[in-house]
Amino acid sequence: MNMPTRLALVTLGLATFLSLRVGAEEPAKKDAEAKGRSSNQLLMRDKLVQMNAVLEGLTLNDFAEVEEAAKTLRMISRATSWHIADPTPQYNRISKNFQEQTADLERHAQEKNVEAATLDLVRMNITCTHCHQHMRDIAADGK
Ligand code: HEC
Repeated sequence: MNMPTRLALVTLGLATFLSLRVGAEEPAKKDAEAKGRSSNQLLMRDKLVQMNAVLEGLTLNDFAEVEEAAKTLRMISRATSWHIADPTPQYNRISKNFQEQTADLERHAQEKNVEAATLDLVRMNITCTHCHQHMRDIAADGK
């Protein structure tokens, strides 16, 4: 690698680092607007928050928090399915699975069944990844 190229890379790296630092200091919402996140992306970001609330509820033995987060996750999942432009049959299936898992979690939270609820959370985590992987596969096929 010659000197000018190396210098350019170092400058680019520094610029990226600085812009990330600035981004980290902004409030999340402003950050989202700045990056032009779609409503779907904002809903998905909230899923992360709600998944953490489930974990928090399970950790603190707060089943009301778990139940609330499970309900919210189901609502978010329904909303995002409507927003998808051209869902594949598999997307619909994964989405339906996820919604059923949130219903199970809600029921298990009502029953204060911590073991079943913990397993529901694990299943939901797997379904998150399953759907994202499916979306990536479709995107890769389209190229
Ligand atoms: C049935 C499909 C499906 C499931 C299940 C699913 N997602 Fe997503 N997720 C998507 C799609 C589609 C996108 C891309 C959204 C976009 O770019 O418009 C996405 C994107 C995301 C993103 C990135 C948003 C951004 O800012 O780019 C996060 C974070 C996310 N999902 C979190 C989750 C979490 C956490 C779960 C599980 C609790 C989950 N998702 C479950 C379909 C799904």
